Amino acid sequence: MSEPQTEGRPERVLDVKDLKVSFGKAQVLNGVTFHVDKGETVAVVGPNGAGKTTLLRALSRLNAWSGSVELDGRPLPKKPYDVVMAGLVHTPERRRLFPGLTIRDNLELGARRLRKQPSTKADDLERVFSLFPKLKERATQTAGTLSGGEQQQCAIGRSLMGRPRLLLLDEPTLGLSVGVKEAIIAGIKSIQDAGTTMLLVEQDVSFAFRCADRVVVLEHGAVALEGPTAQIAGDPYVKKAYLGVA
Ligand SMILES: Nc1ncnc2c1ncn2[C@@H]1O[C@H](COP(=O)(O)OP(=O)(O)OP(=O)(O)O)[C@@H](O)[C@H]1O
Ligand SMILES: [Mg+2]
Repeated sequence: MSEPQTEGRPERVLDVKDLKVSFGKAQVLNGVTFHVDKGETVAVVGPNGAGKTTLLRALSRLNAWSGSVELDGRPLPKKPYDVVMAGLVHTPERRRLFPGLTIRDNLELGARRLRKQPSTKADDLERVFSLFPKLKERATQTAGTLSGGEQQQCAIGRSLMGRPRLLLLDEPTLGLSVGVKEAIIAGIKSIQDAGTTMLLVEQDVSFAFRCADRVVVLEHGAVALEGPTAQIAGDPYVKKAYLGVA
């Protein structure tokens, strides 16, 4: 049975209000407010240094912040481990796999959140393998020997093994060729079709527009614009500054 829901109102998975992060004297996030509803993909786009990674790391409790963050209507747990256990699962920039472990072992580590339900692991592994067949072919190979695109698939797969309530993806296509990007996009679309809620950080605005339901434009640590993808994609400022269209 699905969880109770207020009629007509989408279920709010993430609610961020006035989030601020400073490193010493430098304030990197200056009061960021946005939300993510169940089943949506929200993309955060913005230039290098805007604070996108800092935002995701704050949500994972990897850096200190002030403000308010609720996950599923409850205050965000205080420790990174408890955040993951609550269902917020982060696929970081540059992947962070265990290079000496096999692909299968890397993937299985992602299932630790669900260790009290061991029967889910085999099913979830099959699901990841059907999403990214290359990983199945190479399941016993060490992760350090994978190509960049394969490593990214493995990192996303590892996050999915934890059946996230909210999946955070930081620059999933960074440094990948066009063809490999397309494989990642296809994977993301299947993950969306399965109902996973996502917060996607991207520098590649065209890619973000293809995947997201809503877009948050982050500039200098603040939300410059926010709205449904079609509205943001059609915004004259966004077209000029991000798409190079006059
Ligand atoms: N631990 C830290 N200590 C000091 N400054 C930091 C730290 N982490 C990030 N910063 C600074 O915060 C700013 C935002 O960095 P962040 O990594 O969030 O940007 P980003 O939007 O993810 O950029 P990119 O698109 O290049 O990944 C940068 O100026 C960066 O130097
Ligand atoms: Mg970043």
